[in-house]
Amino acid sequence: MINQVGHEVQYERDRARLEEALDMFLTPPQGYEHNPVWQAARYSALGGGKRVRPILLLMTCRIFGPEVPECAYRFAAALEMIHTYSLIHDDLPSMDNDDFRRGQPSCHKVFGEGIATIAGDLLLNLAYETMLGASVDEFTEAHRRAMMTVAKAAGGRGMVLGQALDLTLENACFSSVTIEDVESMAQLKTASLIAAAVETAGHLSEASEEDLNDLRLAGEHLGLAFQIRDDILDGIDLSDQFGKTRHKDERDGKKTFVTVAGRNDAIALLSDHTNAALDAFLRLERRGKEVDVLMELTRRLMERTH
Ligand code: IPE
Ligand code: IPE
Ligand code: MG
Ligand code: MG
Ligand code: MG
Repeated sequence: MINQVGHEVQYERDRARLEEALDMFLTPPQGYEHNPVWQAARYSALGGGKRVRPILLLMTCRIFGPEVPECAYRFAAALEMIHTYSLIHDDLPSMDNDDFRRGQPSCHKVFGEGIATIAGDLLLNLAYETMLGASVDEFTEAHRRAMMTVAKAAGGRGMVLGQALDLTLENACFSSVTIEDVESMAQLKTASLIAAAVETAGHLSEASEEDLNDLRLAGEHLGLAFQIRDDILDGIDLSDQFGKTRHKDERDGKKTFVTVAGRNDAIALLSDHTNAALDAFLRLERRGKEVDVLMELTRRLMERTH
């Protein structure tokens, strides 16, 4: 119970600081406050979302000590910008064609496809500008490694490649797609950025190689479990806070853990990956890290209804 309260309080505090940081980093240039590309970027980035990636980063920093390094907020905001850009592009008519996101009309429904596309570009570039904006003192070798982790996870070896595989699989017939195909695609499109959040915290906290390995593993399993839960939630009517269109994956021929393996197998896989993430956190605990809050967050994410 104490852990549960601790976790919720911590989550809300981190969320509040992140909202402030995002709002500040997303300040438009003077005279361009009403430019549609800035309005669209702010509409999508400041309009809700669970903030899972940045909060994971901040909570992981705390297992190495009570003080979160100041530049961790830059990385937290940057990860949320990259994630938000991926959602704006994911919703475009040429991708998943989704009209609803985070409880409001998708970016392109409000601002049009052209502005939505470049609002995504704006957020992606601003993410790197934000990470690079650290002071000279903060710009250490650890900072460089953290940036490299984010860059690789987000790009053509990570999320972008996963989104490309997702589109290719959409046109394949179900009989030709295996659960391994879905897992490889989910690993890239979703788990890589979630793992980067956890690993980045390790770099910024000067973690040992052994700890970094377990952080990476925990993040990858957590990321896979996160996408499996997302796929399961698409098919059920649990919460009115879902904030996006339901029953879309099956209608659009998307190859997900549920549409390819069935709901029961997806639930079993969700549990396997959640347990593997928890095991990796336990290994860190045995080496003296306080991982209770992270383990609680992992369990809650896998039971989430939105
Ligand atoms: C949605 O991510 C896309 C996936 C990778 C499953 P989130 O579930 O984190 O979406 P927000 O940020 O809370 O809107
Ligand atoms: C999106 O996966 C993953 C991204 C990298 C954006 P989905 O297409 O399942 O995400 P939702 O369901 O639209 O949020
Ligand atoms: Mg998609
Ligand atoms: Mg989608
Ligand atoms: Mg989905």
